[in-house]
Amino acid sequence: MTNTLLCSLLTISLVTGQVTFQNSAGTRLRVDNGTHGPPMEEVHYYGRIFTTYTRGSYDYTLGVVINETAEEPYPSAELNLPPNQLNTSWKGIPFGSGNDSALISVQAIYMTSSNSQRPETLWAIDTGRPTLVAISLANNSIYQIYTFPASVHYPDSYLNDLRFDFKPNLSDTSGAGIAYLVDSSNEGRPGFIMVDLDTGESWRRLTQDASVLRGENDLSPDGERMYYSPLSTSTLYSIPTRNLRTRDSNPLAEIEAHANVSSHGQRGGNANGFEGDSNGLVYQLMPEQNAVYYFDPSDGLTHPFVRDPMIIWPDGASVADDGYIYMNINQLPYQPDWNDEIDGRAYPGAVLRCKVPGDGTKITGLYDY
Ligand SMILES: *[C@@H]1O[C@H](CO)[C@@H](O)[C@H](O)[C@H]1NC(C)=O
Ligand SMILES: *[C@@H]1O[C@H](CO)[C@@H](O)[C@H](O)[C@H]1NC(C)=O
Ligand SMILES: *[C@@H]1O[C@H](CO)[C@@H](O)[C@H](O)[C@H]1NC(C)=O
Ligand SMILES: *[C@@H]1O[C@H](CO)[C@@H](O)[C@H](O)[C@H]1NC(C)=O
Ligand SMILES: *[C@@H]1O[C@H](CO)[C@@H](O)[C@H](O)[C@H]1NC(C)=O
Ligand SMILES: *[C@@H]1O[C@H](CO)[C@@H](O)[C@H](O)[C@H]1NC(C)=O
Ligand SMILES: *[C@@H]1O[C@H](CO)[C@@H](O)[C@H](O)[C@H]1NC(C)=O
Repeated sequence: MTNTLLCSLLTISLVTGQVTFQNSAGTRLRVDNGTHGPPMEEVHYYGRIFTTYTRGSYDYTLGVVINETAEEPYPSAELNLPPNQLNTSWKGIPFGSGNDSALISVQAIYMTSSNSQRPETLWAIDTGRPTLVAISLANNSIYQIYTFPASVHYPDSYLNDLRFDFKPNLSDTSGAGIAYLVDSSNEGRPGFIMVDLDTGESWRRLTQDASVLRGENDLSPDGERMYYSPLSTSTLYSIPTRNLRTRDSNPLAEIEAHANVSSHGQRGGNANGFEGDSNGLVYQLMPEQNAVYYFDPSDGLTHPFVRDPMIIWPDGASVADDGYIYMNINQLPYQPDWNDEIDGRAYPGAVLRCKVPGDGTKITGLYDY
């Protein structure tokens, strides 16, 4: 039945032969030109751009772009373990090391502005070992390392995304703020991991809640609500951050957290990275649609924001002081594994940007302490 239908459709198009997908020049019909929203610009170089490489045979795992076509290890080559120092392997990929003096495999990074307690900081999650590393962007040195105990970071844990709130008066913290990390373990027990940035104490919340299976996360501008989403589903969730901060000393902490998860409905595709702006919009990177959508808490809806055929597998975005959202595109579908062994990616990779609506800008209220 399907075949018959297909054949007759093909016949029609061959007989009339005037309009094909490849040539829409002569049509009187409205044509989808592939774009929606504000114009997308290609940016080669702005401020400092950091890149991360999940460890395989790459010489380094954290890099900084130095010009349009080159990058170098960051903070230094010495602080990125060379491949010959990696001495275990996972699915054929060299991984792990007994040498704890340098980075193994950085999966996620996040930048926070300077405040009275900290310099401008690049935070890096090193999935090669259970650590959160703080690197000063002022002197390019690692100045703090938080390590997670085995009761918080499981052997199959995979830390995937991170956000911060430095308010000194946050409930259930000791004065230097908090980090919220997503453990997106594929095989095991995904959930949130929190770190008290003063004491270094860490704890878990929402472990194996159906809503957190492989998450990405983002905070509201006031830090009161955490938005998150499992990577391989289309639903956006949130939870009051108070529930994530509540410690295990409260026997109801986990039950109340599960009970306080809100679903904001489906967005129409998987999301691969979140970012917020000063207006409270929650941008969601949509690899299947080559697009970015945003959730607006004021109407409870996810809206299309920008679509452009250039947005091939966006993975990581940041709203800057200049009112633009910058996004990294990794061209994942064109890597050899997904593309008949042929590397079809365009080099060098690019960063794209466009203006966010409503004069939105970077969220700062969480960091100025
Ligand atoms: C694509 O179509 C949209 C909607 O009609 C229009 O606003 C936009 O200017 C077009 N873009 C280009 C590059 O032609
Ligand atoms: C970029 O930097 C590399 C390494 O320093 C250098 O070889 C190359 O010429 C530079 N390219 C441009 C376009 O400046
Ligand atoms: C650890 O790695 C660093 C950076 O490559 C290297 O300088 C150092 O010698 C290594 N330490 C050991 C014990 O192998
Ligand atoms: C890995 O390297 C560390 C130090 O570089 C060493 O102590 C350890 O024995 C090595 N492990 C294996 C499995 O080779
Ligand atoms: C770099 O800055 C950090 C944080 O301000 C400080 O703790 C550290 O001592 C500095 N390191 C170097 C090598 O200057
Ligand atoms: C915490 O401090 C912030 C900023 O100083 C203030 O706006 C907020 O009301 C304080 N919250 C509490 C619970 O004291
Ligand atoms: C759910 O969150 C709200 C807002 O923070 C809070 O007032 C309420 O006590 C929480 N409920 C539970 C069961 O934790």
